[in-house]
Parts: sequence; structure tokens; C-alpha cells
Amino acid sequence: MERTFLMIKPDGVQRGLIGEIVGRFERKGFTLIASKLMTVSKEKAEAHYAEHHGRPYYDDLMSFITSGPVFAMVWQGDQVIALSRQMMGKTNTLEAAPGTIRGEFAVHTNRNIIHGSDSPENAVREINIFFEPEELLDYSKTIQKWI
Ligand code: GTP
Ligand code: MG
Repeated sequence: MERTFLMIKPDGVQRGLIGEIVGRFERKGFTLIASKLMTVSKEKAEAHYAEHHGRPYYDDLMSFITSGPVFAMVWQGDQVIALSRQMMGKTNTLEAAPGTIRGEFAVHTNRNIIHGSDSPENAVREINIFFEPEELLDYSKTIQKWI
């Protein structure tokens, strides 16, 4: 089954949205296989957002993502990468549809509550930045056949 890396950013943690967001992915039918509250080091932030290096918003992005605790997660499920991006809503908050996480909770594009991997390659890459292999739990839920 597919896996993705999701991270509630410092603004989402400060605003008390961990439970709300985790609940959405649980109710959708995905399985949480790893999570931790952590502060992102400069090294991890640079590795994670390497493709944005040199962009005008890069420095702000680095200071924002390292500014306070984040809630890092690995979720598992069929099509979890594409479906979780859909549940998050568009990057630009003006385009984030009502009902999506960003559509419901984000006002500014540079404080947009949640990160989600955008491809299978990036999911593997990002999971490896934030988690050790032994932190990922392998278990099944009996309800899975109904999802
Ligand atoms: P992430 O899940 O955080 O990776 O967001 P994303 O995949 O929806 O967007 P993308 O990877 O393109 O950009 C990473 C982050 O950089 C976004 O979440 C924004 O916070 C920020 N960002 C991207 N594009 C812009 C922009 O044009 N202006 C500003 N201010 N921030 C941007
Ligand atoms: Mg991205």
C-alpha cells in the first residue's frame, strides 16, 4: 500500500489543529503508521525543501518551518499521496477550495498549515529525512476491507 509524509506545520500546531487534522485522515480511512512532535533542524529543513532553494520565498520558508514544533506523520493507504493532497487543498490559499484543510484554516500561502508529499519519489525521500525505518509500524486494521 502507498505511503506519504504529512506534516502539520508550526502554524497548525500553534493553532491547536493537530487533532482536527489527524481526525480527517483517520475518518477518510487512512492508517497512521508513524508520528512525532518535533522541531525541524536547519539541515532537515534544507533537505526537505531543496527544490525551492533560490526561490524568492525560500528564506521565509526556512525560518517558518524551523520556528516551532511540527507534527510529522507517515500515513498509509490506497492513493494516499494524491488523495491527501486533495484533502489539503491548493498551495495558494486563494485557490484552496472550501472544505479542504487549507481552504478551511489557512489565510496566507506562507502559513498554510500542512505539508504533504507530491509524488511517490518525494514521499520516500521525505519519510527518510524525518523518520528512521524502525519508527514505521507495520500493522493492519480489521476495518480495512470496508474502506
Ligand atoms: P508543501 O506541502 O509545504 O510542500 O506545499 P505545496 O506542495 O502545496 O507547495 P510547494 O511545494 O510548491 O511550496 C512549498 C511551500 O513554499 C508552500 O507550502 C508555501 O508555503 C511556499 N510557497 C510556494 N510557492 C510560494 C509563493 O509563490 N509564495 C510564497 N509566499 N510562498 C510560496
Ligand atoms: Mg510541496
